[in-house]
Amino acid sequence: MTTTNVQPGSTISATEILNVRPSSIIFDFPNNGKNDLRQTWSVRESLDSKDYLNLARAAEELRSSDIPVAFPTETVYGLAADATRSEAVKGIYRAKQRPSDNPLIVHVHSLPQLRQLLRSKDGQAIKYQEDSSSNDTHIQGLFSEHDVIPSIYHSLIEKFWPGPLTLILPNPDPSILAAEVTAGLKTFGARMPSSKLALALIKLTDRPLAAPSANASTRPSPTTAEHVRNDLAGRISTIIDGGSCDVGLESTVVDGLSIPPLVLRPGAITLNDLRSCPGWENVGIGYKNQAQIESQPKAPGMKYRHYSPSASVILYESGSSMPTLEQMIGHLGSRNAPGSIGIIRTKSWPLKFSVTDFNDELSNNQSKLLNDELRKITAIDSILVQKYQAKVAQPIGHIEIWDVALGTELDQIAKGLFAALRELDLKKVDIILVEGLDDQMGDVAAAVMNRLRKAAEKSI
Ligand code: TXA
Ligand code: MG
Repeated sequence: MTTTNVQPGSTISATEILNVRPSSIIFDFPNNGKNDLRQTWSVRESLDSKDYLNLARAAEELRSSDIPVAFPTETVYGLAADATRSEAVKGIYRAKQRPSDNPLIVHVHSLPQLRQLLRSKDGQAIKYQEDSSSNDTHIQGLFSEHDVIPSIYHSLIEKFWPGPLTLILPNPDPSILAAEVTAGLKTFGARMPSSKLALALIKLTDRPLAAPSANASTRPSPTTAEHVRNDLAGRISTIIDGGSCDVGLESTVVDGLSIPPLVLRPGAITLNDLRSCPGWENVGIGYKNQAQIESQPKAPGMKYRHYSPSASVILYESGSSMPTLEQMIGHLGSRNAPGSIGIIRTKSWPLKFSVTDFNDELSNNQSKLLNDELRKITAIDSILVQKYQAKVAQPIGHIEIWDVALGTELDQIAKGLFAALRELDLKKVDIILVEGLDDQMGDVAAAVMNRLRKAAEKSI
């Protein structure tokens, strides 16, 4: 599918979506019985498969062009560039309009590739890591005794890689990575994704790939190729479509170089997961203190407005009851014209409106449900989106309500959240009312609330 949509200031006239089915990708392992993706493997060449050819084409674009390529990971869609080339990395900041002091995560396909990044450009291991492992094939387990990968991370890599976990690592000087990747920091973030498609793309490109989420800066992260197209058509040439993302929230970011180690961004790998690993029993939370975030952010991205749809988001803390129709109208502010409201329900707001809900309001403000037949308008994956129309007192006349039920399971809620915010934007609602979660329900709830609180901020 090709979309033409030239944005002001952009030079790309066509954005192409390339389909690649993850199931079509085959990995080959060496004949040593170790089928461990973290070590050595290759992508099987399949020249008669359109999927393979699409992926190989995207890999070639990443090597030769300075325009970034969007691709799916298990968390969210990323916007990739060869992390070793400055001009290519600058292309990411340009396409997203991302502030240049917000560093990027580097995606690797294996530990040998990560080790290359931890050695300085002139081949020396960074000074506080003794490296006796210059020949990776000598490593028996995953790590050698004096591995260049800091030992604090070994237990996490054993348990959670490949997967939705980003590690903050020391950046050698001089570094193989383009300076724009780290935005002036002495560290870089790295992650080995578990998505087959992402791994195959990194492997075929044969470069580490810098990739932030593939949204325009400040927008919710994309979890489908369509979301990427809505934000970046006319700014990039190629979007690889591998279906919707499994997790739906960005990776957990951890800093094991600080004492105690810290979680800088909550995600699918939870505090309890981390605490179960040697060296991480006392892991602290580095993302809650808003004053600290604003003055000296640990993860620079945390100070920026983020995850924001165009509509204002009003977040109800967990336990608040669903607003009445009257309260909803109140949120629309003083207006003389019909308005439109989005609702995102999670754990306990009742599953649907009923005629009686509106009739209860009727006696007070002459409102009435216009169409009592609930209509299923559209579905984002399995998420139900329903439209209601309520007749209210003049001069407003009527309001539209777009109601999104994310489901009650935490994983479902995490997976659908960004899609729901984007869907309501497409419906052009004026405000979005969201039923929040109790942070105490665990880290996935905390990760969802972390994103929602940012979405509900007016701006920073
Ligand atoms: O799941 C994910 O992590 C996705 C997919 C595409 O992999 N990527 C992603 O990237 O969410 P991005 O750029 O949207 O978020 C990266 C976060 C930002 O908050 C950034 O400030 C932080 O990681 N970060 C990157 N490098 C860092 C560093 N050296 N020190 C501290 N924080 C860093
Ligand atoms: Mg992002």
